[in-house]
Amino acid sequence: MSVAAVSEGENPLVEGLERLPVAPTTLVIFGATGDLAKRKLLPALYNLAHEGALPERFHLVGVSRKEKEHEDYRAECEQAIGQFSRRKPDEDVLKGLLEDIKYVPGEFDEDSVYTELERVLDGFEKNAGEKLNRAFYLSTAPNFFPVIVEKLGEHGLAQHEGTEVRVIIEKPFGTSLQEALELNRRVLDVFEEAQVFRIDHYLGKETVQNMMAFRFANGMFEPLWNRNYIDHVQITAAEDIGIGSRAGYYDHAGALRDLIQNHMLQLLCHVAMEPPVSFTAEEVRNEKVKVLHAIHEPTLQEIPEIAVRAQYAAGHSGGEDVPGYLEEEGVRPGSTTETFAALRLEVDNWRWAGVPFYLRAGKRLARKITEIAVTLKPVPHLAFSQDGSLGVKPNQLVLTLQPNEGVTLQLGAKIPGSRMRIRSVNMEFLYGTSFMSQSPEAYERLIMDAMRGDPTLFTRNDEVEAQWRICDPILQAWSQTPGPRAGGLPQYKAGSHGPSEADDLLLDDHHWRAI
Ligand code: BG6
Repeated sequence: MSVAAVSEGENPLVEGLERLPVAPTTLVIFGATGDLAKRKLLPALYNLAHEGALPERFHLVGVSRKEKEHEDYRAECEQAIGQFSRRKPDEDVLKGLLEDIKYVPGEFDEDSVYTELERVLDGFEKNAGEKLNRAFYLSTAPNFFPVIVEKLGEHGLAQHEGTEVRVIIEKPFGTSLQEALELNRRVLDVFEEAQVFRIDHYLGKETVQNMMAFRFANGMFEPLWNRNYIDHVQITAAEDIGIGSRAGYYDHAGALRDLIQNHMLQLLCHVAMEPPVSFTAEEVRNEKVKVLHAIHEPTLQEIPEIAVRAQYAAGHSGGEDVPGYLEEEGVRPGSTTETFAALRLEVDNWRWAGVPFYLRAGKRLARKITEIAVTLKPVPHLAFSQDGSLGVKPNQLVLTLQPNEGVTLQLGAKIPGSRMRIRSVNMEFLYGTSFMSQSPEAYERLIMDAMRGDPTLFTRNDEVEAQWRICDPILQAWSQTPGPRAGGLPQYKAGSHGPSEADDLLLDDHHWRAI
């Protein structure tokens, strides 16, 4: 397939998105009719095609259990792209992308699926008259990851002479440390680590990458970026949505596994890591692993003091009454799955010892906001009269990842007038206004990087394991405590700011930022 890009054209100030070249590739999506493929992967591929970023020769194959014809699958893709793409699809680009998509139906453990897949992949190469790289995207339920990897290996699809073969594995990468170790073992029996791309879609977000630019391209912040000047760090990933139709997955996952074990620990790593010697995949990931190793595995005694979980009860959200978690369709009766989790962690190293890192994530909170707030220590002495001193607050630097991506610095400023009175004001940088471009979706960047073989924005095996080492003891402790009806699991009203129990984690006079 070859797809003509569409020129943005309208606004000369809009920064073009820089894209790097990619070798001819066939991308195979396992779980091709699933939610992630429809909402994220297909729209991302469309937008890449729209910008002319896909390789000149690009083929797509969908593999899924449902029986259907190629044509029907193409129609489904068209519908999904129309519904979820960040831009309105252009007819020609869409046609170019869809025209030779192939669909392979079957159970993931059936040999016939892989024989057929091989036939399709070979067919593309015959038509092209050249060998094509292969990327297998595992976007299925996680229990299929090992079997797909093993079948690819058995059918000789994990290598293809003269080309690069890669496997992209969605989250969750295991549901416990034990499972992650086992999954890594099984994946690495078949593929080399350099072929494996473990997705954490937060790493593909522009604003997450910008944290490195912010820290390491500005001389201003780095001298302050340590325990001498920083009082505490707060990382919030609040969502207003409930679990929607995902009870099957979510009820076995919960907030800690779903968001903290992966996305939020990655954000923490970006705040806390040392400057890498270079921005190569190994250097960057080495630094992140060091941060994770500096967080000790919580002991059973500590857990009640450093970890809080809760579940949403019925409430009001988005202008309507919404049910509590236990009333959501598909949730197990009496489920003790947490929909909110908060932790207090410490990065025990030279730079950060003694600085609390507070993390919280939850569904059905007051609004969607993902932010990192870094609060500096208070000034040592206030020389103002009592009146003026009242308004003085420690400086706070807030990096907002969503919805309004940007950076805000809170400063104390004098209120105009004859008296010396101080109030906090904001110095603000907003992505939207500075670059006037729409940030690409995380999956656009990640699909491209995986096809190019750049693992910098993917989680390495030791990184995943280190993340599980921190979360595993907490999950184990929580699995022993009684559920909400027995009073063991606090509840919060849907649409609220979360459970008041989360305040118990806070040290000194710290308080959670309003959601
Ligand atoms: C996913 C979680 O990884 O991240 C979802 O499984 C969550 O439960 C989502 O809603 C949040 O992603 P984003 O990009 O909307 O912040």
